[in-house]
Amino acid sequence: MSTTEVKKQIEALTAELKLHNYNYYVLAMPTIADYDFDQKLKQLAELEKQHPEFADPDSPTQKVGGEVTKEFVTVRHRWPMLSLGNTYNAQELLDFDQRIRKAIGDNFEYVCELKFDGLSMSVTYEGGKLARAVTRGDGVQGDDVTTNIRTIHTIPKKLNKGEFPELFEIRGEVFMHRKAFERLNDERIENGEVPYANPRNFASGTVKMQDSAEVAKRPLDCFLYGLYTDKTLFKTHWESLEALKSWGFNINDHSRLCGDIDQVLEFINHWDTERFNLSYDIDGIVIKVNNYGQQQELGFTAKSPRWAISYKFKAERVETELLSVSYQVGRTGAVTPVANLQPVLLAGTTVKRATLHNANEIIRLDLHEGDSVYVEKGGEIIPKIISVNTEKRHQNAVPVEYITNCPACGTHLERKEGEAAFYCPNDEGCPPQIVGKMQHFINRKAMNIDGLGDETIETLYQKDLLRHISDIYRLHEHADELKQMDRFGERSITNMLDGIERSKQMPFEKVLFGLGIRYVGATVAKKLALHFKNIDALSKATHEELIAAEEIGDRIAQSLIEYFSSEDHQQEIQKLKAQGLQFVVEEKEITLASDKLAGKTFIISGVFEKFSRDELKDIIEQNGGKILSSISAKLNYLVAGDNMGPAKLEKANKLNIPIISDEELMGMI
Ligand code: IVH
Repeated sequence: MSTTEVKKQIEALTAELKLHNYNYYVLAMPTIADYDFDQKLKQLAELEKQHPEFADPDSPTQKVGGEVTKEFVTVRHRWPMLSLGNTYNAQELLDFDQRIRKAIGDNFEYVCELKFDGLSMSVTYEGGKLARAVTRGDGVQGDDVTTNIRTIHTIPKKLNKGEFPELFEIRGEVFMHRKAFERLNDERIENGEVPYANPRNFASGTVKMQDSAEVAKRPLDCFLYGLYTDKTLFKTHWESLEALKSWGFNINDHSRLCGDIDQVLEFINHWDTERFNLSYDIDGIVIKVNNYGQQQELGFTAKSPRWAISYKFKAERVETELLSVSYQVGRTGAVTPVANLQPVLLAGTTVKRATLHNANEIIRLDLHEGDSVYVEKGGEIIPKIISVNTEKRHQNAVPVEYITNCPACGTHLERKEGEAAFYCPNDEGCPPQIVGKMQHFINRKAMNIDGLGDETIETLYQKDLLRHISDIYRLHEHADELKQMDRFGERSITNMLDGIERSKQMPFEKVLFGLGIRYVGATVAKKLALHFKNIDALSKATHEELIAAEEIGDRIAQSLIEYFSSEDHQQEIQKLKAQGLQFVVEEKEITLASDKLAGKTFIISGVFEKFSRDELKDIIEQNGGKILSSISAKLNYLVAGDNMGPAKLEKANKLNIPIISDEELMGMI
């Protein structure tokens, strides 16, 4: 191949793989098999190795769904990781039952398990210790992701005492709880990062990350459902699940032993509706013949066992008419297309709108005006258009064309290289951007101003009383105009003005977050505030100084420099300073919030509803406490959230260490 051809091929593969990443991670609609994707990725990596000069710095070989990946070592599975045959209705399941009966007669039981929606993992234990964790890969070989899997609290690193073999493999599903997914995705949105489409993608993106410390910050969980050994230790799958539980593994409690297919159908019907009350996603039920001898008799096809099958729940899908496409402008200027639909009932709610993500999605769907579209609500909260029923397309239907100008202010839209979204660059004059920025500023997570809500901001903007954040602190000058306004009683005006006045005491990190600088979310703002201590130092910091701060990378540094280089932004900061807002970290925040935990040691384990583990760690340290790395007699408290590992719990109990909740911790300070 000539060098020009190599260059062309690298470019083509890069573009193709970027699109597949986007389809997989953002749209959750892959159009390529995992295996084929990996092959293409390997081909690209090989070409880049030979010709690094042609490699795109943003190459998919460096990233998975926006995350940097490790060069993982490929490991061959001792027992191949097969897949399962699927059924979608009762009849297909009855056919499966018939096949089993024909082969082994009527005397058998089924085990029904939830089908967890994550990524499958094979974990090897040697001498009772976790030795290796490998992804499914192509079923024959996968990636060694041991260091990342070690961060999962519910995967024991060392087993309880028990009659376990010297060497065995255990298979299970790694996943992320919905609540953690929503919290982390909100943080991504706040930071201007592309959110993941569902918990499964977030989990698989995380397992393939370069930096295990970052993985540890993202709470993953794992249910185990299969034991693989050289010698058969148990007669039935059910017995092995019981044993696994006693060795310290996280085995799901909802599995059930069923005497016949009617009981299986009952189990399926129950979970078809009950699944929405679980804290994690499942996409079906797995049905397994219980007895190992009978499993052996039934055997395997090339791809899957004959003794097991999965029943997939239907993602609820309905057909409806596309009425129009409208475009929303966010506070950062990003323009998101939204499909307005003929209202239709879907999974218990009336759906009127569906997100179209961006211009690429309109092209992917080949959307035409008046199309009849299929809408689905899967694990995701927002419904989406899956495809178009082209048979119903009107003959002269016009393709939907993405707008070229901002729907709010008319400014020509721009698209940054490598980004899917179009932006309106008129951030100082575009109404939804101006209103959105002020709404962000007053938000609960930022300045949390009592008595002032999104709607009031909108109304005050319409009345010409608000243009900039600093105008909020001048509202008291307009008391008479405020009183003239509909639905604005004296009491609510006083409440609002009091709330505004009180917000001047909010700490610097909240003000900084409230300014709405791109990629500066609540956590980043806190890190910046603690590192630079005041706005003057921060606004003068060079790129090198910025990236020297904890967790600040090139992208955030670039965004900060851009923000502070604007004369308008500088003037606004001066105004806010003069109005009495906090632009300096208070001394007590830098040192200790209190010394109430001085001399006490803590370990944090599990998933918490209100805090991330890092936040709890900061709180403990800011109050003089110390974090230990493992449970020992030196530990004073174990702060436990949901889904804490059973091994940890047992050890803490053995050593008589008090186990406290996050609320009890707050009570201590
Ligand atoms: S048993 C021979 N049990 O579903 C395959 N799989 O479609 C044995 N899965 O790759 C798999 N929950 O990732 C089994 N309770 C469960 C499961 C489960 C989720 C996944 C697993 C597997 C895929 C098969």
